[in-house]
Amino acid sequence: MCGIVGYIGDKEVTSVLIEGLSRLEYRGYDSAGIAVYDNKDIHVRKYKGRLSVLADHLKEETLTGVVGIGHTRWATHGEPSDRNAHPHTNVAGNIAVIHNGIIENYMKIKEWLMEEKGIEFKSDTDTEVIAHLVDHFYEGDLLDAVYKAIRKMEGAYAIGVICKDEPDKIVAVRKDSPLIVGLGKGENFIASDIPALLKYTREMYLVENDEVVLLTKDDVKIFNELGQQMDREIFHVTWDAESAEKEGYEHFMIKEIHEQPKGVSETLLRRLDTDENIVLDGIKLTKEDLENINKVYIVACGTAYHAGLVGRYAIEKFAKIPVEVDVASEFRYRDPFVDDKTLFIAVSQSGETLDTLAALREAKRKGARILSIVNVVGSSVARESDDVFYTWAGPEIAVASTKAYTTQLVAMYLVALHMSSVKGTLTKDQYDGIIKELKTMPEKVKNILDNHTRIQHLADGQFNNESVFFMGRGLDVHVAHEGSLKLKEISYINSFAIAAGELKHGTIALIEDGTLVVALATQDRLYDKMLSNIQEVRARGAFVVGVAKEGNKEIEKTADVVLYVPDTMDELTPILSVIPLQLLAYYIAVARGCDVDKPKNLAKSVTVE
Ligand code: F6R
Repeated sequence: MCGIVGYIGDKEVTSVLIEGLSRLEYRGYDSAGIAVYDNKDIHVRKYKGRLSVLADHLKEETLTGVVGIGHTRWATHGEPSDRNAHPHTNVAGNIAVIHNGIIENYMKIKEWLMEEKGIEFKSDTDTEVIAHLVDHFYEGDLLDAVYKAIRKMEGAYAIGVICKDEPDKIVAVRKDSPLIVGLGKGENFIASDIPALLKYTREMYLVENDEVVLLTKDDVKIFNELGQQMDREIFHVTWDAESAEKEGYEHFMIKEIHEQPKGVSETLLRRLDTDENIVLDGIKLTKEDLENINKVYIVACGTAYHAGLVGRYAIEKFAKIPVEVDVASEFRYRDPFVDDKTLFIAVSQSGETLDTLAALREAKRKGARILSIVNVVGSSVARESDDVFYTWAGPEIAVASTKAYTTQLVAMYLVALHMSSVKGTLTKDQYDGIIKELKTMPEKVKNILDNHTRIQHLADGQFNNESVFFMGRGLDVHVAHEGSLKLKEISYINSFAIAAGELKHGTIALIEDGTLVVALATQDRLYDKMLSNIQEVRARGAFVVGVAKEGNKEIEKTADVVLYVPDTMDELTPILSVIPLQLLAYYIAVARGCDVDKPKNLAKSVTVE
């Protein structure tokens, strides 16, 4: 995910682009850049880091002009760096391109451009091929050259292109990535999203898939795939910029909760080839490497640690390798038993959590092989690892982690299955069965989200609790811990989670009339035992919310309320059972009037000890 913006008119273009990009930073923020036409040339400024880094540079390295394009990046191909930041240009620098999306066949095009045309690439991105392709087809008509270029491109993209020889136009294309046009008087705009333009205009054209747009300062023409001009009604925006960034959701957290079907599907499907084999590009572990490994350590903090607990279960069960899991702040100080036969797995959304990074360095010092599961491409954890598995959650803005967690779970399952296939620890039927079931997860997550109103009503009646207990057995305990963390961090309710079997060893003393207990009972093997635990707390007056798989109705006799998740194999339930807990935490926090996206005392990325 990246943000793009373009402007042509009479205003000073740099400030328009920076303002637009500042509204798109939620789409990505690892590097930013602009290309501006001025004094018969195209000038590019692009830097790794947040938009403020670019803005600071522009104070010294000023650019003036009235036509330009800008980009804020969320890296996919190529680490975040100055050279990989957009815009990208052709060799002569007379064509500049910004791009949001992925050019799936870029390697093929790149090889062709290198071999046939001797082009030396300046970046590792898929985007750079577009600039060279447009240049290849350019014969004095930018629109025509862009048409010819996109006929060679496969994938999803929204692009904006400017050309030194036709400085009075911007050409833009939309294919499966968002693009809108903003209409002004004597000026026109393009952007990935409406908020980028609301300071300047509320009149928009919504560009459809496969459409190509030609902008001049006084005119906008939209063409279809075949080059036929299309009529378009003006869309008048009535809402404000802040709510538009959230696409109509009240908070980033609930938006991100709803993005989970997409995140799970992207993280999974991009790693399966047509024969359903797992292809992990960033992981180079060979059979010999795995044979050398006698232990896995999974280390992380907070929510990522909870994903690691599920990872332990998956790796031990599927790949039959012993696994230890630790929180990074403990691991780094307790002289753990790690050597060159250890595989160390760091899990981190941001890839910048100081404790996780320090633990990784400690494991590396002791000779371990380092694999990381990270969301932010090119982050410190990723850079310092031998192997990297990127989750495809997209930028997570809300402090409370949701879509990062479910995509980390998918990553854990895929790593475990990959290890099992290298080691031959699962039969083909077992392996195929798990992959088949994993593929149903996006739809099943969506199904739970579609029925969120029940959870909202439940939250409306339960938001006043002073304390909440979460309990479960087997994999459910780990999800209980995640549900409890979510609730406490955004609602400030004193919540905690325990293994239900531990209840009688102390915690049951705290249960009294009306105490809210969330009891997870999704594990078939442990279902009856959980029903007994539910009875025990109910007998002491607890109000029990059960979480169970559809079809397991027995729980209705013991729990006060039951939240069902679609049926699936026990091993995969965490991807589903966490969703009602995220929703419950969210709606309780909203009912309590809390600042859901920015809870007190917390930061998104913890770069201090
Ligand atoms: C909780 C949460 C934190 C993070 C933790 C690790 O909702 O977001 O517990 O999971 O700070 O952060 P990363 O994954 O960036 O290393």
